[in-house]
Amino acid sequence: MTVRNLFLLPGDGIGPEAMAEVRKIIAYMNEEKGAGFVVDEGLVGGSAYDAHGAAISEEDMQKALSADAVLFGAVGGPKWDAVPYEVRPEAGLLRLRKDLELFANLRPAICYPALAAASSLKPELVEGLDILIVRELTGGVYFGEPKEIIDLGNGQKRGIDTQVYDTYEIERIAGVAFELARTRKNRVCSMEKRNVMKSGVLWNQVVTETHKAKYADVQLEHMLADAGGMQLVRAPKQFDVIVTDNLFGDMLSDVAAMLTGSLGMLPSASLGAPDAKTGKRKALYEPVHGSAPDIAGKGIANPIAMIASFAMCLRYSFNLVQDADNLETAIANVLDRGIRTGDIMAEGAVQVGTVEMGDAILAEFKTL
Ligand code: IPM
Ligand code: MG
Repeated sequence: MTVRNLFLLPGDGIGPEAMAEVRKIIAYMNEEKGAGFVVDEGLVGGSAYDAHGAAISEEDMQKALSADAVLFGAVGGPKWDAVPYEVRPEAGLLRLRKDLELFANLRPAICYPALAAASSLKPELVEGLDILIVRELTGGVYFGEPKEIIDLGNGQKRGIDTQVYDTYEIERIAGVAFELARTRKNRVCSMEKRNVMKSGVLWNQVVTETHKAKYADVQLEHMLADAGGMQLVRAPKQFDVIVTDNLFGDMLSDVAAMLTGSLGMLPSASLGAPDAKTGKRKALYEPVHGSAPDIAGKGIANPIAMIASFAMCLRYSFNLVQDADNLETAIANVLDRGIRTGDIMAEGAVQVGTVEMGDAILAEFKTL
């Protein structure tokens, strides 16, 4: 029987509540479909700090490295605001991304028809929206050196972060974007700030060359990242795939998330390069939303982004395409029936909590 190793890192805040709903789907797939998921669980973020004094333990890092896929909840909260920078909750996530070499972050922004009214934009601007942000995830200003605060000795300090990209990093993320575009509407928009940044000039050149050499069949457009942000809220449906660097991708994906009605809706996949021998990629799946400490433990969080992240896991790590499609359809059907968590509540809909939403999606999934 196929064995599929999953490593769960629920993290902090609403992470564990959302992850519990995915566990139910995993259990069902094991019992009824013989999916063969073997599940292990670890600690990350503030919960890991409380237990080990680190944002993730070495043992859990090893487990993440050897798993077929990692499912990640969320990290952080006011309780850990004052912990040292090196062990802050976010450091656990950044280390996972870096050590697993998860350079390609796929952030789809899909507006479910039932939720068009929940967007902060006019429904006609977002209805049917289906864009994919491909964010570079292991380079740029997040990891560039030097990264420090130095004392200038005259009562002044200097904070330094370094934005840096090498050719190969741009080439490989552009390649991912072009490949994915071919499975969609065949269009890529690359965003950088070549008007002020040298790394932006190189980004633009390398994307252009990669396109010319290997992907000339895909339609390519370049946009300055600030203009891109403006276009995302002006006419989001003009985009298919957006490829951009780590920091711009962080910001633009939050903007795109809000177009879909709620940050609670967006899944993401972080993928490494395929292994030369096995063809397998390291992968981590996480909702785009954070730990939402204000609503943690109340049973009202929206588990859809976490469940949709698991659907991406089925698709990209295990090639269970039919199950992934069904799980996504189950989410859409439940929303169509007017079942909503508080964050996406609308007039005439039925408001439910985290567990009821998870149950409704699972019940629907079972019928498909
Ligand atoms: C994200 C988050 C992270 C990031 C934080 C938690 C480090 O905002 O995944 O978008 O900045 O990448
Ligand atoms: Mg972010």
